[in-house]
Amino acid sequence: MDALECISGRMSMRKFAPHEMSQEEIHAILKAGMEAPSAMNRRPYELIVNTDNAFWVEMKKEKPTCEIIATSSLSIVVVGDENKNPTHEFLIEDCSVVAENMLLAAKALGYDSLWAGVKFDSEFYLSLIDRFNLPNGFMPIAVLCFGKAGSNKTQVDRYEEKKVHWGKF
Ligand SMILES: Cc1cc2nc3c(=O)[nH]c(=O)nc-3n(C[C@H](O)[C@H](O)[C@H](O)COP(=O)(O)O)c2cc1C
Repeated sequence: MDALECISGRMSMRKFAPHEMSQEEIHAILKAGMEAPSAMNRRPYELIVNTDNAFWVEMKKEKPTCEIIATSSLSIVVVGDENKNPTHEFLIEDCSVVAENMLLAAKALGYDSLWAGVKFDSEFYLSLIDRFNLPNGFMPIAVLCFGKAGSNKTQVDRYEEKKVHWGKF
């Protein structure tokens, strides 16, 4: 699958089939995340990797999507590091490109994925800090989960000519 096919083939999967991912596959996904660009190459992120995802069910009160994450083969919490980026300048962007790279790498390896958003200071945000004992200055930005598709989804072409402004708005 080439890069453009991975990009257009990536879709949020909300049902996963049981499957064990290999260490090589997990490593390839993590490596793809770390190959993302970042402002001034600060790389202000840490990645928490989980292959036993049953514990996510405990957080479904804070975020219903956690029930889906619990059925995935792999979840990765993308954590922003304020120490590397005290003004927060580009912190979210830097972490987001890491996340997107990992979703696309997973697609290339034959896996589907879901990005579960973490709203700043939400109950979910606070419960992630608590669950993973994140020290001051480490902010959960996104929870990604990966696995084999458990349902069929069809690709949608989202290209919209009206959103493209050639030279003037
Ligand atoms: C920042 C962000 C937060 C998201 N949060 C959630 C979420 O909490 N639960 C969920 O089911 N999907 C979540 N999604 C997935 C979006 O709903 C999904 O990307 C969008 O509907 C487009 O569908 P697609 O991913 O299949 O192209 C999130 C996506 C992004 C980028």
